[in-house]
Parts: sequence; structure tokens; C-alpha cells
Amino acid sequence: MTDPILSVAGVAKTYAGGTTALHAVDLTINKGEIFALLGPNGAGKTTLISIICGIVTPSSGTISVAGHDAIHDYKFARRRVGLVPQELSVDMFETVLATVTYSRRLFGLPANPAHIEQVLRDLSLWDKRTAKIMTLSGGMKRRVLIAKALAHEPEILFLDEPTAGVDVSLRRDMWKLVHRLREHGTTIILTTHYIEEAEEIADRVGVIDKGKLLLVEDKAVLMRKLGKRELDLTLAEPMATLPGELDDWDLSLVNDGKTLRYVFDATEEHTGIPSLLRKLAELHIGFKDLETSKSSLEDIFVDLVGERA
Ligand SMILES: Nc1ncnc2c1ncn2[C@@H]1O[C@H](COP(=O)(O)OP(=O)(O)O)[C@@H](O)[C@H]1O
Ligand SMILES: [Mg+2]
Repeated sequence: MTDPILSVAGVAKTYAGGTTALHAVDLTINKGEIFALLGPNGAGKTTLISIICGIVTPSSGTISVAGHDAIHDYKFARRRVGLVPQELSVDMFETVLATVTYSRRLFGLPANPAHIEQVLRDLSLWDKRTAKIMTLSGGMKRRVLIAKALAHEPEILFLDEPTAGVDVSLRRDMWKLVHRLREHGTTIILTTHYIEEAEEIADRVGVIDKGKLLLVEDKAVLMRKLGKRELDLTLAEPMATLPGELDDWDLSLVNDGKTLRYVFDATEEHTGIPSLLRKLAELHIGFKDLETSKSSLEDIFVDLVGERA
């Protein structure tokens, strides 16, 4: 049995200007998972997580965090979530230690210097603890945002586009931290428009576009889809229909019948290619060229997103 820590039901948002950023999104997140919300710019990712974190009011729908209604019982919900926002927003005149300590105090929690120290050490900020934030580089300021989000020991950590424009070392530290947090039971939800990032870190991936959640799938299932390959045969003569003798293979005619496409699982021992080629020869179906391509998460993504364009 999986244990949902967050459920979103029918959450929609139309901003005051009339833009509908979300259309009735339903999503359930399990305790301790790493979930990536993948979608292009403007898809509604920031809107969705801002609603869950209580920063934006939804037009309709309900959200529950650890079994509590997050809209009415927002104090309960806010205490349990931490958000690392997409935009840098830190008090420039404070020191690192003061701003992170204050973030915890905001929730009315007892001081826990050992926890704050651990967070700062995990983010390589301990040596900078007395530095004023304005003296830090962009990457360091991002680390401070992460530390602030972790100061009150949230059960769910949201990272909005965490690696957009960050350097390799921060990216590495961040993923190490994400895995360590998860080992301690923290649930992680990140948004990204980088497919590789979703592939690299997530247990499950949700694809969002134009305010609609198009697919939610285990990464392992998506990876199996990644194993699908296509063999395209450029036919000597275009074909209008496929002969029944070819029913054993997953074939389709594309490109106005000029190309015969065979979709096969590259992870299978028997791809069916040699027998297909023999059968084509038997049927006197000639081809001029042959090409295989990998159907990647990127293709799946483009297919999904393109379909609705
Ligand atoms: N405060 C706002 N007021 C009006 N429209 C907004 C606001 N924030 C976002 N939008 C619009 O809502 C849509 C989704 O935006 P956003 O949630 O930021 O997407 P993403 O994070 O996936 O890039 C976009 O069309 C954006 O222009
Ligand atoms: Mg965004």
C-alpha cells in the first residue's frame, strides 16, 4: 500500500487577467517519493506548486496535505511544506545564518541550532554563515533559498526549476541532498522543463502542458517506453495499405505511404527484424533505405505536447 501525503483534486486556476493557468488537475503524491513535474515554460508548474504551498488561491478544487485540508487548515499545511522558489527572493542585508534561523522561527518552532548547522553544512554554506547575502554569488544565494526551505524540517520539499541556470557543483550537491532527505522520509516534488532531469532523479514523472496534467507514470515504465525503437524503411514504391501477411509485426505506413515504420522493443532478444526483412523479400516489397531511431522520453513528450498544440 502506498501512503499519500498530498492529494490535489480538481484544482483549477484562472488569474485575474483571465489567463487559465490550470484546468482541473488531479494528482496524488506518495510519502517519500521523488516526483518530477515536467512541462514547457508557461505549462502551469509554478502555479500548481504555489497553490499547494498556499501562496496562490485556486479558483476551484481541494488539496490535502497529510490528511488535512490545505486551503482551510493552511497553517497545518504550511508548516509541513518547504518551497524553494524559482526566483531569487532573499533579504540581501541579512547574514546567511540569521536569515535561515529566522525562517524556522517564522513557524513558531523551538530553535534547533544543530539542525540549522547540518543544513548549512549540507549546502556548503557553513563557512559563509556570517556573510551578508548580498556578497554571495547567484549560486550561493540559491543555496540559501534551499537552506531556508529546509529550516523548519518540512515533510514535503518543493523545488521549482531547481537547476535552471545553476552550476554543476550546486546541481551535484542538490541531488545528493535530495537523496539524503528522501532517505529520512522527506517527499520531494520538483518542477523542470529538462527531460534529462526528470529521468535522472525522479521515481515518478507527471507531464504538464497548457494547464493540463497529461500523464503520470513511474519512471521505470517511461524507461521501458524509452526502449522502444523505430525502424523506418523507405519503400521503393509507396504503399496504400499493409498486406495481411505483415500482421505479425507492429507496422504502420507513414509519410504518405512512402515509409514503412516498424516499432520494436530493443530490449527484447528477438526484435523481429530479420524475419520482417525476409517476409518483405518474399512479398517483393523493396526498400531504398533503412534507418532506426530511438523513441526517447523527449519524443514521448513532444508527441504529447505537440498533439495538443
Ligand atoms: N500572477 C499571474 N498573473 C497572471 N497570469 C499568470 C500569473 N502567473 C502565471 N501566469 C500565467 O499562467 C500560465 C502558467 O504560468 P506558470 O504557472 O508560471 O507556468 P510554468 O511555471 O510552467 O512556466 C502562463 O500563461 C503565465 O503567463
Ligand atoms: Mg515556473
